[in-house]
Amino acid sequence: PKIIAIVPAAGIGSRMQANKPKQYLKIHNKTILEHTLEQLLNYPHIDTIILAVAKNDPYLSTLTLLPHSKIQVVLGGDSRADSVYNALQNVDEKAWVLVHDAARPCITHQDLDKLIKITNPSGAILATPVIDTLKRSNLTQKIVQTEDRNQLWHALTPQFFPAKLLKQALQQAKNQGLEITDDASAIEQYGLQPLLIVGRSDNIKITRPEDLALAEFYLTQQHR
Ligand code: CTP
Ligand code: MG
Repeated sequence: PKIIAIVPAAGIGSRMQANKPKQYLKIHNKTILEHTLEQLLNYPHIDTIILAVAKNDPYLSTLTLLPHSKIQVVLGGDSRADSVYNALQNVDEKAWVLVHDAARPCITHQDLDKLIKITNPSGAILATPVIDTLKRSNLTQKIVQTEDRNQLWHALTPQFFPAKLLKQALQQAKNQGLEITDDASAIEQYGLQPLLIVGRSDNIKITRPEDLALAEFYLTQQHR
């Protein structure tokens, strides 16, 4: 089937505390969003990229990459899930979608290969096993207990699903008013079980100011 990449890029990057949305900050003279888009454009198995951006995004016009025959720009929404949902309205239901955060420029083709190989009808996501010791706290920040990290994972993106399934699952999550931070959550709430595929830990989501230097370092190190 056709693979359509969906790139949600309509966030404001509040935790980054920068003077513009984080996807428009530069690493090596290129915006984070351009790094991400170029890495997806250079991947031969992606048919089209749907980019969800904020309404009246003043930075969009600074992307020298656009317009591009393989990139379709759509309006994002108030939440990440809304942005993905809006993008999905433009996708053929027989396609599979690869949803990837604009804020993850360090994705490698090797990890994309691992993900798109899967045959699970409920889809799959890249993830890394938790390595830190995890504490659960009460409301006064005192430790209540230590969690068993053995079956805990960090969810990454891309996340890969049949377009029709993700659309139905996100629609249901919307109807139920569920707050979800990734696409797999919608599939889980829908009663299905996406597969976890071990991904690289350098596929970080640039979230806080200190993540910028780390992503810059990874981008120089990687043979992508
Ligand atoms: N995103 C989106 N639409 C939204 C919110 C987020 O398309 N309404 C996108 C972001 O642009 C980002 C990805 O979803 O590429 C992951 O979200 P996150 O890291 O939370 O980005 P922001 O929401 O921009 O950051 P913050 O939560 O710190 O404000
Ligand atoms: Mg956010």
